[in-house]
Amino acid sequence: MAPERPLLEVNDLRTYFFTSLGTVRAVDGLSFSVPLQRIVGIVGESGCGKSVAARSILGIIPPPGRVVSGSMHFDGDQGLLDLAALDPHDEVYRKTRGKEISMIFQEPMSALSPVHTVGDQLVEALMLYDEQLTKEDARDRCIGLLRQVGIPSPETLIDAYIFELSGGMRQRVLVAMAISGEPKLLIADEPTTAIDVTIQAKVLDLLRHLHEEKRMSMLFITHNMGVIAELAHEVIVMYLGTVAEQGSVNDIFDNPQHPYTQALLESIPGIGVEPKTTLQAIEGSVPDPYRRPPGCPFSNRCPSFKAGTCDAALPPLYRVSESQTARCFLLEGNEVVAEAAPPPEVSADG
Ligand SMILES: Nc1ncnc2c1ncn2[C@@H]1O[C@H](COP(=O)(O)OP(=O)(O)O)[C@@H](O)[C@H]1O
Ligand SMILES: [Mg+2]
Repeated sequence: MAPERPLLEVNDLRTYFFTSLGTVRAVDGLSFSVPLQRIVGIVGESGCGKSVAARSILGIIPPPGRVVSGSMHFDGDQGLLDLAALDPHDEVYRKTRGKEISMIFQEPMSALSPVHTVGDQLVEALMLYDEQLTKEDARDRCIGLLRQVGIPSPETLIDAYIFELSGGMRQRVLVAMAISGEPKLLIADEPTTAIDVTIQAKVLDLLRHLHEEKRMSMLFITHNMGVIAELAHEVIVMYLGTVAEQGSVNDIFDNPQHPYTQALLESIPGIGVEPKTTLQAIEGSVPDPYRRPPGCPFSNRCPSFKAGTCDAALPPLYRVSESQTARCFLLEGNEVVAEAAPPPEVSADG
């Protein structure tokens, strides 16, 4: 039996920003796929390129940035599309964005209008996705959506303005908005970062529940390994624009191979323990985007650093098991899945 085609297959994606200070290789040779009906978690520290990767998929990279190479095959209603080959303004891309692939953004307020009611915003989105829908039907559907995301008395809340809502309710409206087009792929970019811990847990429950009910695929982005353990089936550990390690959630938690993955796992606070005593900070921080270390991007912070090897070349991707791969010279001797490809020669104007 041929394996099922993934819903989204990203291959060697590179998204660069051409700034006056130099080129920022925000996403630099990123490959991963999102299978049907699965939750894939992307984890990595701030600045690793997670949001830029998400925005690349949606075709909303602001200038001076652009996707410079690679492919993003999406198997949607309009057939198999390579999103990387489409103009972001293309009609086909516009039909896909928001409806088939939707996103809950990291900055919640930027996605909602302060001068329109909850209902105005949701009804508009619904009528855009379904041109046959009348305003009355859209309003009914909107109330149904608000109920689905756990908003109490949606008949009243539909006429509220965003500033009248608590942080948790705002987040639920954002989730309602993101699922209004019945997306095949929902991208959630750190959807719980800006809200307090008890609401965070509720939003995660809501997303898990919606996934189970609607069977939509999800790409869940976070800097927190604890959240990954709660939600993801498969894990992509991202560092400086590329994949350090990927595997099933069991592979990553029970048998992590990359020193970066191990460091991220050690930095999860223990249950019932004061975070300060167990939070084992990773040495240093993500390097300045203009000053990437030569060789392995993690080499200047790695506790297993070997001079002459790790700073000499980007490690290839090694196989750990059927379901797990990692990009680290410690795995030398394992099967090489992919040699490291050098970045392409590109300039601001292509
Ligand atoms: N508009 C932009 N112009 C220049 N550099 C950018 C821009 N947006 C993001 N970057 C850079 O891309 C890198 C990855 O950023 P981002 O994807 O936001 O990281 P993450 O979401 O993992 O915290 C960072 O070095 C960031 O400074
Ligand atoms: Mg981000």
